[in-house]
Amino acid sequence: MKSVATDSATARPHMMLKPAIHIIEHAALSADLKARILALCRDAYEEDFTPYFALLQGATHVLAIKDGQLVSHGAWVRRELRYGSRRRPLSCAYVEAVATPVHLQRQGFGTLVIQAIPPLLQGYDIAALSPSEPGFYARSGWEMWRGPLFFMKDGQRFSTPDEDVMIYRLPGTPADLDLQDELETDWRQGDVW
Ligand SMILES: CC(C)(COP(=O)(O)OP(=O)(O)OC[C@H]1O[C@@H](n2cnc3c(N)ncnc32)[C@H](O)[C@@H]1OP(=O)(O)O)[C@@H](O)C(=O)NCCC(=O)NCCS
Repeated sequence: MKSVATDSATARPHMMLKPAIHIIEHAALSADLKARILALCRDAYEEDFTPYFALLQGATHVLAIKDGQLVSHGAWVRRELRYGSRRRPLSCAYVEAVATPVHLQRQGFGTLVIQAIPPLLQGYDIAALSPSEPGFYARSGWEMWRGPLFFMKDGQRFSTPDEDVMIYRLPGTPADLDLQDELETDWRQGDVW
């Protein structure tokens, strides 16, 4: 990739070029890109990310690329959430695998990725995720769900009191959505939330 003068070591910070954001469907990922995303997530989460990659079948990936280098990643998958005692369904973009390699953190790359996602979510009622760093998401407008969380499996309902979920309101989010209400999803292999 072509290098740019303002991006050199001599450039002043305010002149640095931002990474470009690329959106790509999971099925369209090349083997090389898949390997680079896996390596990035392994580095950021400090564990083998291969088992979690199974959750990303059908995902849309958001890549921040700077000078040909993958500097941050996020993805979302479609899931149904249900809220309130009436279990009203919400088409949810469930955000996963937000990660910046350790040596590139705290330069704003993760924020670029997380803020790129909501404008892309036409056709969804809400976005949600399970945060390990709630403050990072709160700065970008995500809100902690305060009410009880559940999942459904084989017709039975299970409570998940130890989980945290954050949501992001989209234009299609019901105006009366109450963060104290019940929130439910369906069981899935790996992380339920
Ligand atoms: C969470 C994570 C994705 C953040 O990525 P990042 O690229 O470091 O994110 P940013 O640089 O945009 O923001 C991180 C912090 O750096 C600060 N920051 C941003 N630019 C900065 C700069 N130029 N100088 C110093 N600090 C800066 C931000 O204010 C932010 O502070 P916060 O902790 O108050 O939110 C990254 O830490 C990570 O990969 N963690 C491990 C995996 C993980 O836990 N992922 C989240 C799963 S829910």
